Amino acid sequence: MRMDKDILKTPATDVEQILKTALTELGSTKNLDALNDWRIRYLGRKGIVIQLKRSISKLPEKERPKFGQVINETSKTLEEQLMKHETKISSSNDTSVSDDIDITLPGIPINNGSLHPITQTIREICESFSSMGFEIIEGPEVELDYYNFQMLNIPKHHPARDGFNTLWIDKQDDEGETPMLLRTHTSPMQIRTMEKQDPPVRMIVPGKVYRYEATDSSHEWHFSQIEGLAVDQGITFADLKGTLYEFARKLFGDDVKVRFRCDYFPFVEPGAEMAIDWNSRTGDNNKEENWIEILGAGMVHPKVLKAVGYDSNKYTGFAFGIGVERISMLKNNIDDIRLFYNNDVRFLSQF
Ligand code: DAH
Repeated sequence: MRMDKDILKTPATDVEQILKTALTELGSTKNLDALNDWRIRYLGRKGIVIQLKRSISKLPEKERPKFGQVINETSKTLEEQLMKHETKISSSNDTSVSDDIDITLPGIPINNGSLHPITQTIREICESFSSMGFEIIEGPEVELDYYNFQMLNIPKHHPARDGFNTLWIDKQDDEGETPMLLRTHTSPMQIRTMEKQDPPVRMIVPGKVYRYEATDSSHEWHFSQIEGLAVDQGITFADLKGTLYEFARKLFGDDVKVRFRCDYFPFVEPGAEMAIDWNSRTGDNNKEENWIEILGAGMVHPKVLKAVGYDSNKYTGFAFGIGVERISMLKNNIDDIRLFYNNDVRFLSQF
């Protein structure tokens, strides 16, 4: 505590200095308690301002009015500043208000969008395979003929190329061929992966693919696939079936019915397609079974294994390619694939 009385005793009491000190001290008070101490010290019944006022009578008569005026002004300034500072402190750290805040209340929702339904489905499919130990890999959308076709046992002029309605990149090699294209499927990543790593391989590849096709309710010229590949010693068709059945159960529920039928893809032997019975999902048991194909699959062709330098007598594997839009349409009851890519907020905001 300052020696107030001593200050006042000095004949040349510098009121200006007292005011300055008072305001500095006021400025450094951080809470209401400190502020109250300050008020008592300067403006209290026994405070400095009162003592200054009392000292007036000790002055020579002609100095009194001027001194009195200075003290009144000082007192007024201190009162005003006190009020201002009090408001400032109360609004910044008013503990009584912060105690009232219930931090367990949920926040006010902000409508900041959601993931595209295809992204959501891709994530769900990836999640189901990574829980079975598959690694997730991505690859280029602009691909070489070499990976998209040749290494997958689809040489130049092979009739299977017709089925892929390829969008070619307009660039010619020495023989006048166009070696680059927009990948027509995610299968080329099988080759790129096996070229880089020895067995065992267990990976999936989500990504976009492109085909030069007219669009309608079930076709788009670009769509998404998830490729899968597992290669190791002793892998059989039973592993293929078991893995894909497990995937179907994770996505569509434990009671899903699946059906495998023969199919042809040049890079697998034997090849198959897997369908699910949609009525078993919707609970509509009165209707006939309604099988919907959701993926192609098969045992990796020995020619493909040999092409990447794997010993096809030692290693076997299975591969599959899942159509993502199909699955999202089935899961979300969407009847037109084009809705995914129209960017209509009324559609997208439902997911
Ligand atoms: N790539 C095929 C397609 O786009 C799908 C496919 C079928 C992928 C069988 C596979 C497979 O890996 O084994 O039509």
